[in-house]
Amino acid sequence: MYQYVIHGGKPLVGEVAISGAKNAAVAILPAALLVNGVCRIENVPQISDVTLVLEILQELGADVRSVNSNTVEICCSHIHNFRVPDSLSRRMRASYYFIGSLLSRFGKAEVSMPGGCDLGVRPIDLHIKGFRALGAQVNVQGGFVYATAPGGKLTGATVYMDQVSVGATMNVMMAAVLADGLTVIENAAKEPHVVDLANFLNSMGADIMGAGTDVIKIRGVEKLRGGTYSIIPDQIEAGTYMAAVASAGGNVLIRNVIPKHLDCITAKLAEMGVQVEEEGDCVRVMRTGKLHRTNIKTMPYPGFPTDMQAQMSAVLCTAEGTSTIDEGIWDNRFRYVDEFKRMGARIQVSGKLAVIEGVPYLTGAPLRACDLRAGAAMVIAGLAAHGTTTIECIHYIERGYENLVGKLKGIGADIELVDAKEPVSLRDSQVG
Ligand code: EPU
Repeated sequence: MYQYVIHGGKPLVGEVAISGAKNAAVAILPAALLVNGVCRIENVPQISDVTLVLEILQELGADVRSVNSNTVEICCSHIHNFRVPDSLSRRMRASYYFIGSLLSRFGKAEVSMPGGCDLGVRPIDLHIKGFRALGAQVNVQGGFVYATAPGGKLTGATVYMDQVSVGATMNVMMAAVLADGLTVIENAAKEPHVVDLANFLNSMGADIMGAGTDVIKIRGVEKLRGGTYSIIPDQIEAGTYMAAVASAGGNVLIRNVIPKHLDCITAKLAEMGVQVEEEGDCVRVMRTGKLHRTNIKTMPYPGFPTDMQAQMSAVLCTAEGTSTIDEGIWDNRFRYVDEFKRMGARIQVSGKLAVIEGVPYLTGAPLRACDLRAGAAMVIAGLAAHGTTTIECIHYIERGYENLVGKLKGIGADIELVDAKEPVSLRDSQVG
Protein backbone atom coordinates (compact mmCIF):
# COMPACT_ATOMS: atom_id res chain seq x y z
CA MET A 1 0.00 0.00 0.00
CA TYR A 2 1.34 3.38 -0.96
CA GLN A 3 1.29 6.44 1.25
CA TYR A 4 2.36 10.07 1.10
CA VAL A 5 5.26 11.17 3.25
CA ILE A 6 5.44 14.92 3.75
CA HIS A 7 8.22 16.84 5.47
CA GLY A 8 6.35 20.04 6.25
CA GLY A 9 7.20 23.63 7.01
CA LYS A 10 8.47 24.73 3.59
CA PRO A 11 6.81 27.65 1.78
CA LEU A 12 5.45 26.89 -1.69
CA VAL A 13 6.92 28.84 -4.61
CA GLY A 14 6.53 28.61 -8.38
CA GLU A 15 3.75 27.73 -10.83
CA VAL A 16 1.18 24.96 -11.00
CA ALA A 17 -1.32 24.17 -13.76
CA ILE A 18 -4.85 23.04 -12.96
CA SER A 19 -6.38 20.00 -14.69
CA GLY A 20 -9.89 19.51 -16.05
CA ALA A 21 -12.76 19.47 -13.59
CA LYS A 22 -13.51 16.08 -12.03
CA ASN A 23 -17.19 16.74 -11.44
CA ALA A 24 -17.65 17.95 -15.01
CA ALA A 25 -15.68 15.04 -16.50
CA VAL A 26 -17.62 12.35 -14.61
CA ALA A 27 -20.85 13.73 -16.13
CA ILE A 28 -19.65 14.67 -19.63
CA LEU A 29 -18.06 11.26 -20.30
CA PRO A 30 -21.32 9.33 -19.58
CA ALA A 31 -23.15 11.99 -21.63
CA ALA A 32 -21.18 10.73 -24.67
CA LEU A 33 -23.78 7.92 -24.66
CA LEU A 34 -26.29 10.49 -25.92
CA VAL A 35 -24.29 11.27 -29.05
CA ASN A 36 -24.46 9.67 -32.53
CA GLY A 37 -20.88 9.77 -33.74
CA VAL A 38 -17.50 10.29 -32.15
CA CYS A 39 -17.02 12.63 -29.17
CA ARG A 40 -13.49 13.92 -28.73
CA ILE A 41 -13.14 15.21 -25.19
CA GLU A 42 -10.10 17.24 -24.18
CA ASN A 43 -8.73 18.40 -20.82
CA VAL A 44 -9.92 15.16 -19.19
CA PRO A 45 -8.21 14.84 -15.79
CA GLN A 46 -6.12 11.70 -15.24
CA ILE A 47 -7.76 10.55 -12.01
CA SER A 48 -9.15 7.22 -10.88
CA ASP A 49 -12.81 8.33 -11.05
CA VAL A 50 -12.34 9.08 -14.75
CA THR A 51 -10.66 5.71 -15.32
CA LEU A 52 -13.70 4.10 -13.75
CA VAL A 53 -16.21 6.02 -15.91
CA LEU A 54 -14.27 4.97 -19.02
CA GLU A 55 -14.29 1.35 -17.78
CA ILE A 56 -18.08 1.53 -17.39
CA LEU A 57 -18.47 2.95 -20.91
CA GLN A 58 -16.40 0.06 -22.28
CA GLU A 59 -18.44 -2.45 -20.27
CA LEU A 60 -21.55 -1.06 -22.02
CA GLY A 61 -19.93 -1.53 -25.44
CA ALA A 62 -18.51 1.94 -26.19
CA ASP A 63 -15.28 2.32 -28.16
CA VAL A 64 -12.94 4.38 -26.01
CA ARG A 65 -9.62 5.56 -27.42
CA SER A 66 -7.00 7.58 -25.54
CA VAL A 67 -5.58 10.16 -27.96
CA ASN A 68 -3.13 11.42 -25.34
CA SER A 69 -3.03 11.53 -21.55
CA ASN A 70 -5.84 14.14 -21.35
CA THR A 71 -7.86 13.53 -24.53
CA VAL A 72 -10.25 10.65 -25.25
CA GLU A 73 -12.42 9.75 -28.19
CA ILE A 74 -15.63 7.90 -27.43
CA CYS A 75 -17.99 6.29 -29.91
CA CYS A 76 -21.22 4.82 -28.57
CA SER A 77 -22.65 3.37 -31.81
CA HIS A 78 -22.37 -0.24 -30.64
CA ILE A 79 -23.82 -0.15 -27.15
CA HIS A 80 -25.12 -3.65 -26.41
CA ASN A 81 -25.45 -3.61 -22.64
CA PHE A 82 -27.57 -1.34 -20.47
CA ARG A 83 -26.49 -2.66 -17.08
CA VAL A 84 -23.80 -1.05 -14.89
CA PRO A 85 -22.68 -3.79 -12.49
CA ASP A 86 -22.36 -3.34 -8.76
CA SER A 87 -18.60 -3.96 -8.88
CA LEU A 88 -18.16 -0.73 -10.90
CA SER A 89 -21.07 1.41 -9.72
CA ARG A 90 -20.44 1.16 -6.03
CA ARG A 91 -16.91 2.54 -6.44
CA MET A 92 -18.15 5.96 -7.51
CA ARG A 93 -21.03 8.32 -6.82
CA ALA A 94 -21.16 9.65 -10.37
CA SER A 95 -22.25 6.25 -11.74
CA TYR A 96 -25.76 7.69 -11.31
CA TYR A 97 -25.20 9.64 -14.57
CA PHE A 98 -25.46 6.36 -16.47
CA ILE A 99 -29.15 6.17 -15.49
CA GLY A 100 -30.02 9.48 -17.16
CA SER A 101 -27.86 8.93 -20.24
CA LEU A 102 -28.84 5.29 -20.94
CA LEU A 103 -32.51 6.03 -20.30
CA SER A 104 -32.49 9.02 -22.63
CA ARG A 105 -30.72 7.37 -25.57
CA PHE A 106 -31.76 3.71 -25.29
CA GLY A 107 -34.94 3.87 -23.20
CA LYS A 108 -33.62 1.58 -20.50
CA ALA A 109 -31.02 1.49 -17.75
CA GLU A 110 -30.06 -0.90 -14.98
CA VAL A 111 -27.55 0.70 -12.66
CA SER A 112 -26.44 -0.54 -9.28
CA MET A 113 -26.98 2.04 -6.51
CA PRO A 114 -24.02 4.45 -6.63
CA GLY A 115 -21.26 4.47 -4.02
CA GLY A 116 -18.83 7.35 -3.40
CA CYS A 117 -17.30 9.09 -0.40
CA ASP A 118 -19.13 8.63 2.90
CA LEU A 119 -20.40 12.14 3.66
CA GLY A 120 -23.64 11.06 5.38
CA VAL A 121 -26.90 10.02 3.71
CA ARG A 122 -26.63 10.36 -0.08
CA PRO A 123 -30.06 9.58 -1.56
CA ILE A 124 -30.96 9.76 -5.28
CA ASP A 125 -34.69 10.34 -4.76
CA LEU A 126 -34.58 13.68 -6.64
CA HIS A 127 -33.00 12.01 -9.68
CA ILE A 128 -35.74 9.35 -9.64
CA LYS A 129 -38.46 11.97 -9.16
CA GLY A 130 -37.15 13.78 -12.24
CA PHE A 131 -37.01 10.64 -14.41
CA ARG A 132 -40.57 9.73 -13.37
CA ALA A 133 -41.79 13.24 -14.22
CA LEU A 134 -40.41 12.63 -17.73
CA GLY A 135 -42.51 9.46 -17.96
CA ALA A 136 -39.94 6.83 -16.96
CA GLN A 137 -40.90 3.79 -14.93
CA VAL A 138 -38.33 3.46 -12.18
CA ASN A 139 -37.99 0.65 -9.62
CA VAL A 140 -35.31 0.18 -7.02
CA GLN A 141 -34.85 -3.50 -6.25
CA GLY A 142 -32.03 -5.59 -4.85
CA GLY A 143 -29.64 -2.64 -4.87
CA PHE A 144 -30.28 -1.79 -8.54
CA VAL A 145 -32.18 1.06 -10.16
CA TYR A 146 -34.26 -0.27 -13.10
CA ALA A 147 -35.52 2.51 -15.36
CA THR A 148 -37.43 2.26 -18.63
CA ALA A 149 -39.02 4.78 -20.96
CA PRO A 150 -42.38 3.51 -22.29
CA GLY A 151 -42.15 3.37 -26.09
CA GLY A 152 -38.40 3.95 -25.76
CA LYS A 153 -38.72 7.75 -25.39
CA LEU A 154 -39.17 10.19 -22.52
CA THR A 155 -41.52 13.18 -22.61
CA GLY A 156 -40.61 16.71 -21.51
CA ALA A 157 -42.11 17.97 -18.23
CA THR A 158 -41.56 20.50 -15.45
CA VAL A 159 -39.38 19.16 -12.66
CA TYR A 160 -39.15 21.09 -9.40
CA MET A 161 -36.10 20.17 -7.30
CA ASP A 162 -37.10 20.12 -3.62
CA GLN A 163 -33.46 20.68 -2.78
CA VAL A 164 -30.67 22.11 -4.91
CA SER A 165 -28.88 19.03 -6.23
CA VAL A 166 -25.93 19.05 -8.61
CA GLY A 167 -26.33 15.39 -9.56
CA ALA A 168 -30.12 15.47 -10.03
CA THR A 169 -29.96 18.67 -12.11
CA MET A 170 -27.34 17.19 -14.46
CA ASN A 171 -28.99 13.78 -14.64
CA VAL A 172 -32.41 15.20 -15.52
CA MET A 173 -30.72 17.47 -18.07
CA MET A 174 -29.22 14.38 -19.75
CA ALA A 175 -32.54 12.53 -19.63
CA ALA A 176 -34.33 15.51 -21.21
CA VAL A 177 -32.08 16.30 -24.19
CA LEU A 178 -33.55 13.56 -26.39
CA ALA A 179 -37.10 13.64 -24.88
CA ASP A 180 -40.18 14.79 -26.78
CA GLY A 181 -40.92 18.45 -26.05
CA LEU A 182 -39.83 20.92 -23.38
CA THR A 183 -38.42 20.11 -19.93
CA VAL A 184 -38.10 22.83 -17.31
CA ILE A 185 -35.90 22.21 -14.26
CA GLU A 186 -36.82 24.60 -11.46
CA ASN A 187 -34.58 25.28 -8.46
CA ALA A 188 -31.67 23.91 -10.50
CA ALA A 189 -28.07 23.75 -9.27
CA LYS A 190 -25.81 26.48 -10.72
CA GLU A 191 -22.34 24.99 -10.24
CA PRO A 192 -19.75 25.54 -13.02
CA HIS A 193 -19.94 21.83 -13.93
CA VAL A 194 -23.71 22.13 -14.53
CA VAL A 195 -22.97 24.86 -17.07
CA ASP A 196 -20.12 22.82 -18.55
CA LEU A 197 -22.37 19.81 -19.15
CA ALA A 198 -24.96 22.07 -20.83
CA ASN A 199 -22.24 23.63 -23.01
CA PHE A 200 -20.97 20.17 -23.99
CA LEU A 201 -24.48 18.97 -24.89
CA ASN A 202 -25.29 22.19 -26.80
CA SER A 203 -22.05 21.90 -28.75
CA MET A 204 -23.24 18.43 -29.87
CA GLY A 205 -26.63 19.82 -30.98
CA ALA A 206 -28.77 19.94 -27.83
CA ASP A 207 -31.08 22.87 -27.07
CA ILE A 208 -30.49 23.86 -23.43
CA MET A 209 -31.01 27.37 -22.07
CA GLY A 210 -30.51 28.88 -18.64
CA ALA A 211 -27.76 26.62 -17.25
CA GLY A 212 -26.09 28.60 -14.46
CA THR A 213 -29.45 30.04 -13.33
CA ASP A 214 -32.24 28.57 -11.16
CA VAL A 215 -34.33 27.59 -14.18
CA ILE A 216 -33.00 25.41 -16.99
CA LYS A 217 -35.08 24.84 -20.12
CA ILE A 218 -34.31 21.88 -22.34
CA ARG A 219 -36.09 21.42 -25.65
CA GLY A 220 -35.68 17.82 -26.78
CA VAL A 221 -33.95 17.21 -30.12
CA GLU A 222 -34.01 14.13 -32.40
CA LYS A 223 -30.32 13.34 -32.01
CA LEU A 224 -26.92 14.72 -31.05
CA ARG A 225 -23.94 14.69 -33.41
CA GLY A 226 -20.27 14.07 -32.62
CA GLY A 227 -17.73 16.83 -32.05
CA THR A 228 -14.87 18.10 -29.91
CA TYR A 229 -15.20 19.64 -26.46
CA SER A 230 -12.72 20.75 -23.81
CA ILE A 231 -13.63 20.39 -20.11
CA ILE A 232 -13.36 23.46 -17.84
CA PRO A 233 -10.58 23.72 -15.23
CA ASP A 234 -11.30 22.24 -11.82
CA GLN A 235 -12.54 24.87 -9.36
CA ILE A 236 -11.83 22.62 -6.38
CA GLU A 237 -8.37 21.52 -7.47
CA ALA A 238 -7.47 25.20 -7.92
CA GLY A 239 -8.98 26.04 -4.53
CA THR A 240 -6.99 23.21 -2.94
CA TYR A 241 -3.68 24.66 -4.21
CA MET A 242 -4.79 28.12 -3.07
CA ALA A 243 -5.43 26.72 0.40
CA ALA A 244 -2.08 24.91 0.37
CA VAL A 245 -0.24 28.18 -0.30
CA ALA A 246 -2.33 29.94 2.37
CA SER A 247 -1.42 27.25 4.87
CA ALA A 248 2.27 26.68 4.08
CA GLY A 249 2.97 30.28 3.00
CA GLY A 250 4.79 31.31 -0.18
CA ASN A 251 3.99 32.72 -3.62
CA VAL A 252 2.46 30.53 -6.35
CA LEU A 253 0.97 31.28 -9.76
CA ILE A 254 -1.96 28.92 -10.30
CA ARG A 255 -2.47 28.55 -14.06
CA ASN A 256 -5.40 27.44 -16.21
CA VAL A 257 -8.22 28.58 -13.94
CA ILE A 258 -11.46 30.52 -14.40
CA PRO A 259 -10.96 33.20 -11.71
CA LYS A 260 -14.72 33.90 -11.51
CA HIS A 261 -15.29 30.33 -10.26
CA LEU A 262 -12.81 31.01 -7.46
CA ASP A 263 -14.42 34.26 -6.19
CA CYS A 264 -15.90 32.72 -3.04
CA ILE A 265 -12.59 31.04 -2.14
CA THR A 266 -10.60 34.20 -2.94
CA ALA A 267 -12.93 36.28 -0.74
CA LYS A 268 -12.42 33.99 2.27
CA LEU A 269 -8.66 33.80 1.80
CA ALA A 270 -8.51 37.61 1.61
CA GLU A 271 -10.34 37.81 4.97
CA MET A 272 -7.65 35.51 6.32
CA GLY A 273 -4.82 37.81 5.23
CA VAL A 274 -3.86 35.94 2.05
CA GLN A 275 -3.23 37.98 -1.12
CA VAL A 276 -4.88 36.69 -4.29
CA GLU A 277 -4.33 38.50 -7.59
CA GLU A 278 -6.09 37.70 -10.84
CA GLU A 279 -3.79 37.55 -13.91
CA GLY A 280 -5.86 36.53 -16.97
CA ASP A 281 -6.57 32.81 -16.66
CA CYS A 282 -4.25 32.56 -13.64
CA VAL A 283 -4.39 33.55 -9.98
CA ARG A 284 -1.34 34.40 -7.93
CA VAL A 285 -1.60 33.46 -4.26
CA MET A 286 0.81 34.94 -1.70
CA ARG A 287 1.02 34.62 2.06
CA THR A 288 3.88 35.82 4.22
CA GLY A 289 2.15 37.28 7.30
CA LYS A 290 -0.06 35.67 9.94
CA LEU A 291 -3.37 34.02 9.11
CA HIS A 292 -6.53 35.62 10.55
CA ARG A 293 -9.65 33.83 11.75
CA THR A 294 -12.87 33.71 9.74
CA ASN A 295 -16.27 32.01 9.57
CA ILE A 296 -17.33 29.82 6.64
CA LYS A 297 -20.72 28.41 5.70
CA THR A 298 -20.91 25.97 2.79
CA MET A 299 -23.76 26.42 0.34
CA PRO A 300 -24.68 25.62 -3.26
CA TYR A 301 -22.86 27.73 -5.90
CA PRO A 302 -22.18 30.67 -5.89
CA GLY A 303 -21.89 30.06 -2.14
CA PHE A 304 -18.77 28.59 -0.57
CA PRO A 305 -18.32 25.01 -1.90
CA THR A 306 -18.63 22.10 0.51
CA ASP A 307 -15.83 20.43 -1.48
CA MET A 308 -13.42 23.10 -0.13
CA GLN A 309 -14.59 22.84 3.47
CA ALA A 310 -11.98 20.41 4.79
CA GLN A 311 -9.10 22.18 3.00
CA MET A 312 -10.09 25.55 4.53
CA SER A 313 -10.38 23.89 7.90
CA ALA A 314 -6.74 22.79 7.54
CA VAL A 315 -5.74 26.42 6.92
CA LEU A 316 -7.79 27.74 9.85
CA CYS A 317 -6.11 25.33 12.29
CA THR A 318 -3.18 27.76 12.48
CA ALA A 319 -5.05 31.07 12.08
CA GLU A 320 -5.03 33.50 14.99
CA GLY A 321 -8.31 33.40 16.95
CA THR A 322 -11.40 31.21 16.78
CA SER A 323 -13.06 30.33 13.47
CA THR A 324 -16.27 28.47 12.69
CA ILE A 325 -17.22 26.21 9.79
CA ASP A 326 -20.88 25.51 9.20
CA GLU A 327 -21.43 22.59 6.79
CA GLY A 328 -24.60 23.39 4.88
CA ILE A 329 -24.75 20.44 2.44
CA TRP A 330 -23.66 17.13 3.98
CA ASP A 331 -24.52 15.59 7.38
CA ASN A 332 -21.17 14.00 8.04
CA ARG A 333 -18.26 15.91 6.56
CA PHE A 334 -16.07 16.41 9.64
CA ARG A 335 -14.67 12.90 9.87
CA TYR A 336 -11.15 14.29 9.29
CA VAL A 337 -11.22 16.27 12.55
CA ASP A 338 -9.83 13.45 14.71
CA GLU A 339 -6.87 13.16 12.33
CA PHE A 340 -6.17 16.91 12.63
CA LYS A 341 -6.33 16.57 16.42
CA ARG A 342 -3.45 14.09 16.18
CA MET A 343 -1.43 17.00 14.78
CA GLY A 344 -2.33 19.27 17.69
CA ALA A 345 -5.36 21.04 16.16
CA ARG A 346 -8.04 22.34 18.51
CA ILE A 347 -11.43 21.66 16.93
CA GLN A 348 -14.81 20.98 18.50
CA VAL A 349 -17.59 19.57 16.32
CA SER A 350 -21.24 19.79 17.21
CA GLY A 351 -23.51 18.41 14.50
CA LYS A 352 -22.77 20.35 11.32
CA LEU A 353 -20.72 23.08 13.06
CA ALA A 354 -16.98 22.99 13.75
CA VAL A 355 -15.31 25.53 16.03
CA ILE A 356 -11.58 25.85 15.38
CA GLU A 357 -9.32 27.52 17.90
CA GLY A 358 -6.13 28.44 16.06
CA VAL A 359 -2.81 27.08 17.36
CA PRO A 360 0.65 28.46 16.46
CA TYR A 361 1.59 25.35 14.45
CA LEU A 362 0.59 21.75 13.76
CA THR A 363 2.99 18.86 14.31
CA GLY A 364 3.45 16.05 11.77
CA ALA A 365 1.67 12.78 12.56
CA PRO A 366 0.60 9.51 10.91
CA LEU A 367 -2.82 10.13 9.31
CA ARG A 368 -5.38 8.18 7.34
CA ALA A 369 -7.48 9.78 4.58
CA CYS A 370 -11.19 9.10 5.03
CA ASP A 371 -12.53 10.69 1.85
CA LEU A 372 -11.27 12.64 -1.16
CA ARG A 373 -11.36 16.21 0.15
CA ALA A 374 -10.49 15.21 3.70
CA GLY A 375 -7.40 13.52 2.26
CA ALA A 376 -6.46 16.69 0.36
CA ALA A 377 -6.93 18.66 3.57
CA MET A 378 -4.54 16.31 5.37
CA VAL A 379 -1.93 16.96 2.68
CA ILE A 380 -2.38 20.72 3.24
CA ALA A 381 -2.05 20.31 7.00
CA GLY A 382 1.08 18.19 6.49
CA LEU A 383 2.69 20.77 4.17
CA ALA A 384 2.40 23.45 6.85
CA ALA A 385 3.16 21.27 9.87
CA HIS A 386 6.44 21.00 11.72
CA GLY A 387 7.94 17.55 11.13
CA THR A 388 6.83 14.52 9.14
CA THR A 389 3.28 13.56 8.23
CA THR A 390 2.37 10.26 6.61
CA ILE A 391 -1.00 9.80 4.93
CA GLU A 392 -2.48 6.37 4.28
CA CYS A 393 -5.49 5.42 2.14
CA ILE A 394 -4.39 7.78 -0.61
CA HIS A 395 -6.65 6.01 -3.12
CA TYR A 396 -9.32 8.44 -1.93
CA ILE A 397 -7.15 11.39 -2.94
CA GLU A 398 -6.24 9.85 -6.29
CA ARG A 399 -9.94 9.77 -7.17
CA GLY A 400 -9.88 13.52 -7.73
CA TYR A 401 -6.38 15.01 -7.99
CA GLU A 402 -4.22 14.50 -11.07
CA ASN A 403 -0.52 14.07 -10.27
CA LEU A 404 -0.82 15.67 -6.83
CA VAL A 405 2.67 14.67 -5.74
CA GLY A 406 4.33 15.86 -8.97
CA LYS A 407 2.47 19.17 -8.95
CA LEU A 408 3.31 19.86 -5.29
CA LYS A 409 6.97 18.95 -5.80
CA GLY A 410 6.97 21.41 -8.71
CA ILE A 411 6.21 24.23 -6.25
CA GLY A 412 8.80 23.15 -3.73
CA ALA A 413 6.90 20.79 -1.43
CA ASP A 414 8.80 17.93 0.19
CA ILE A 415 6.30 15.14 -0.52
CA GLU A 416 6.95 11.58 -1.72
CA LEU A 417 4.82 8.65 -2.71
CA VAL A 418 6.37 5.69 -0.92
CA ASP A 419 5.63 2.03 -0.52
CA ALA A 420 4.39 1.74 3.07
CA LYS A 421 6.56 -1.35 3.58
CA GLU A 422 9.64 0.90 3.48
CA PRO A 423 10.56 2.65 6.74
CA VAL A 424 9.62 6.33 6.78
CA SER A 425 12.42 8.82 7.39
CA LEU A 426 11.77 10.67 10.63
CA ARG A 427 14.43 13.27 9.97
CA ASP A 428 12.21 16.22 10.92
CA SER A 429 9.67 14.56 13.15
CA GLN A 430 10.86 16.01 16.45
CA VAL A 431 10.83 19.65 15.32
CA GLY A 432 8.82 22.09 17.43
N1 EPU B 1 -29.94 15.13 -2.12
C1 EPU B 1 -31.14 14.55 -1.84
N2 EPU B 1 -31.68 13.76 -2.80
C2 EPU B 1 -31.10 13.54 -4.01
C3 EPU B 1 -29.87 14.16 -4.28
C4 EPU B 1 -29.30 14.96 -3.30
O1 EPU B 1 -31.70 14.72 -0.77
O2 EPU B 1 -31.67 12.82 -4.83
C5 EPU B 1 -29.31 15.99 -1.10
C6 EPU B 1 -27.99 15.42 -0.61
O3 EPU B 1 -28.19 14.50 0.44
C7 EPU B 1 -27.25 16.66 -0.19
C8 EPU B 1 -27.76 17.73 -1.16
O4 EPU B 1 -28.98 17.22 -1.71
O5 EPU B 1 -27.61 17.02 1.11
C9 EPU B 1 -26.85 18.09 -2.29
O6 EPU B 1 -26.41 16.91 -2.96
P1 EPU B 1 -26.01 16.92 -4.50
O7 EPU B 1 -27.01 16.06 -5.23
O8 EPU B 1 -25.82 18.31 -4.95
O9 EPU B 1 -24.63 16.17 -4.46
P2 EPU B 1 -24.06 15.08 -5.46
O10 EPU B 1 -24.54 15.34 -6.83
O11 EPU B 1 -24.23 13.73 -4.90
C10 EPU B 1 -21.98 16.50 -6.14
C11 EPU B 1 -20.50 16.30 -6.13
C12 EPU B 1 -19.97 16.33 -4.71
C13 EPU B 1 -20.36 17.65 -4.05
C14 EPU B 1 -21.87 17.87 -4.17
C15 EPU B 1 -22.31 19.25 -3.66
C16 EPU B 1 -20.20 14.90 -8.07
C17 EPU B 1 -19.86 13.56 -8.61
N3 EPU B 1 -20.20 15.02 -6.74
O12 EPU B 1 -22.52 15.42 -5.38
O13 EPU B 1 -18.57 16.29 -4.85
O14 EPU B 1 -20.01 17.62 -2.69
O15 EPU B 1 -22.29 17.76 -5.54
O16 EPU B 1 -21.67 20.26 -4.37
O17 EPU B 1 -20.45 15.84 -8.81
C18 EPU B 1 -16.36 15.80 -4.23
O18 EPU B 1 -16.01 16.13 -5.37
O19 EPU B 1 -15.55 15.59 -3.30
C19 EPU B 1 -17.79 15.62 -3.95
C20 EPU B 1 -18.23 14.94 -2.91
